[in-house]
Amino acid sequence: MSTLMSTYPPQVVTFVRGRGSELWDTEGKRYLDFLSGLAVTSLGHAHPEVADAVAEQARTLLHVSNLYGTEPGPEVAATLDRLLGGGGKVFFCNSGAEANEAAIKLARKFGGRGRHVVASAYGSFHGRTLATLHATGQPEKHEVLQPLPEGFRHVAWQDLEALEAALDPSVTAVLLEPVQGEGGVNPADTEYFAGVRRLCDERGVLFMVDEIQTGLGRTGEWFGFQHFGVQPDVVTMAKALGNGVPIGACWAKADVAAAFVPGDHATTFGGQPLATAAARKVLEVMEREDVPARARDAGKRLADGLLDLPHVNGVRGLGLLLAAELSDRDAREVATAALAAGLVVNGVSPSALRFAPSLLVDDAEIGEALSILEGILA
Ligand SMILES: Cc1ncc(COP(=O)(O)O)c(C=O)c1O
Repeated sequence: MSTLMSTYPPQVVTFVRGRGSELWDTEGKRYLDFLSGLAVTSLGHAHPEVADAVAEQARTLLHVSNLYGTEPGPEVAATLDRLLGGGGKVFFCNSGAEANEAAIKLARKFGGRGRHVVASAYGSFHGRTLATLHATGQPEKHEVLQPLPEGFRHVAWQDLEALEAALDPSVTAVLLEPVQGEGGVNPADTEYFAGVRRLCDERGVLFMVDEIQTGLGRTGEWFGFQHFGVQPDVVTMAKALGNGVPIGACWAKADVAAAFVPGDHATTFGGQPLATAAARKVLEVMEREDVPARARDAGKRLADGLLDLPHVNGVRGLGLLLAAELSDRDAREVATAALAAGLVVNGVSPSALRFAPSLLVDDAEIGEALSILEGILA
């Protein structure tokens, strides 16, 4: 009998080791990982340069708190700001939910009293803290935890009229994912994001983009919003930034970031040397390898291959964040069969399989994953 709380379904496999796109379980069985710990290990498992950077930092300085300056957080913030287009400031934290929590608090402080509502989309996922859960547009997840913090409103996804109707003077920010990840891998489009930007400008509302799943090359651009030719006011990220070392970040344009003054927000661990040393090396490797281009190329090969498989009705997503829509097959059962056959993917909905392999995945690994799936679907 496990002494872990039962917040997760039964875990049928225990992994003990990884390398690149490969994983091994306690029995020594090898798997191909096409989920990357839910879009986290974008450079693959046990990346040698990231491992060395973490080990070196562990031998140098792990933590002293944010009462004192440390390295290399400021360097990581500068790199992120450059990749995001410049002119912003960064707050570091430890997870995606915390990055969104920071964004929500910043939006409330920026809006002032009476202007505190955050509008987000049905089908979205923004985290599991009480506030980010309420921002998450999945009412069925809210019910058992009511009452949730006040100040959240949901609108239909990809529906500009619905958003316009929701933007009364109490709204301080709109929070959207460029591709709804947990909601089923549903990409936004240029018209929608451009329309949201226009509406936000007209109403003096912040446009906040949740790049926690989509950020850092995964979709074929450094950030998902960059597909749509808009510049947000606030961007949140986490997952891939540490390649498995917990770190999150909330970026905001400097005039928005200025709403926070000392004492408004804080975290013990956020920005500490261990996590930022990992992030510095992750960003260095990502830039050297041009991971957005690799995600575009590999994503096309994977999508083309999936479309040739039996029972695959369509493929959606951007770059290497893809979902295959299945006909006459339960995606969760297919994911279970794939795991038994040595391929890690997940059923993101009853009918769709999600793929988020390492951005360094090679052609042979894509071929192997496709042939495992073909064996299951045929
Ligand atoms: C878009 C998005 N936002 C927020 C989160 C929450 O991140 P975390 O689990 O690190 O708190 C996730 C996690 O899946 C996510 O996909």
